[in-house]
Amino acid sequence: MQDLVEHSIKVITREQAPSGAYPACSSFKVYGYAWLRDGAFVADGLLAHGVTDGPRAFHEWTARVIDERAERIDEVVAALAAGAEVDQARFLPTRYTLDGRDGTESWWDFQLDGYGTWLWTLERFLAAAGTDGTPFAPAVRRTVRYLAATWRLPCYDWWEEHAERVHVATLTAVEAGLRAALRTGLLDAAGAATAATAADAIAALVATEGRVDGRLRKWLGSDAVDGSLLAAVAPFAVVDAATAQRTVAAVERDLLDGGGVHRFRADVFYGGGRWPVLAALLGHAYLRLDRPADARRQLGWIAGTAAANGDLPEQVSDRLLAPEHLPQWQDRWGPVASPLLWSHGAFLSLAAQLGVTA
Ligand code: BGC
Repeated sequence: MQDLVEHSIKVITREQAPSGAYPACSSFKVYGYAWLRDGAFVADGLLAHGVTDGPRAFHEWTARVIDERAERIDEVVAALAAGAEVDQARFLPTRYTLDGRDGTESWWDFQLDGYGTWLWTLERFLAAAGTDGTPFAPAVRRTVRYLAATWRLPCYDWWEEHAERVHVATLTAVEAGLRAALRTGLLDAAGAATAATAADAIAALVATEGRVDGRLRKWLGSDAVDGSLLAAVAPFAVVDAATAQRTVAAVERDLLDGGGVHRFRADVFYGGGRWPVLAALLGHAYLRLDRPADARRQLGWIAGTAAANGDLPEQVSDRLLAPEHLPQWQDRWGPVASPLLWSHGAFLSLAAQLGVTA
């Protein structure tokens, strides 16, 4: 375990671009880009082990890419306020080139959760590193305005699917980010009111339409469960104890498979294997539910997915929900992505919670 902590820190540090961006997986065909979702969780995993230089560079890079898009954000916010349609290409991207440009290859780009997750991890970074947040204030304010204007819109989910839906994992990531932005103290009175109003409205929607049988649902109107919902239980902790408990029970019933966690029942991506990042989120959720032995078992399962050199994959393919779909993805993009930086970051984060350090 300690070796894997050490290796994870090394891999992430080695892979960070000079700009500060974290590629999702530089060796994988289409993952040479920086996703805010992945990068934010990666930075948070390092921070949990007291590493601050890399995370600081990541947060500075993110603030820069957001500030560089100030006019675009103003334009989107104004158009939505006026009730106008916004061209999908004007929304902020999900993934950036490592030097901070929008990607040129087409992608499932309109996703909001990464911006919420970034705010949430930035607040933790500022608090833990004792860093003056002032240089981040413009980007925090802009991200809050952007999310407050867009959160009701359907967009792609964590898995870059179903753009026509409003996803509960996206809503809860945005809520967590808005509440974190409030805690930074970097918002002026108007910005704080915007953040608080939007966060409360999201919480109210999630508490009503975002649940079925007392637990979170994959998207508004769906009865399915999704592994990404675990983040709302922990570490975001934006749902009450009863909802947390029932959401974990639904994940255990539908998605937990020998310690590994599938994304959702209908997953066909690389045949629908089990994801270390979700095994780690389940570990955090177990800690919230006061089940530390189960959380430790999750950490052990993740460690068991490491290759001989310690690299962690995006998913493992030994127990697939839809095995017939595996070959077509292998033909298209090659073997499963590894090392996936997010898997290493997720491992680091749970390891630190369990007191496992290098
Ligand atoms: C996953 C995303 C992830 C991206 C980069 C995609 O296959 O669905 O959640 O952000 O890969 O790791």
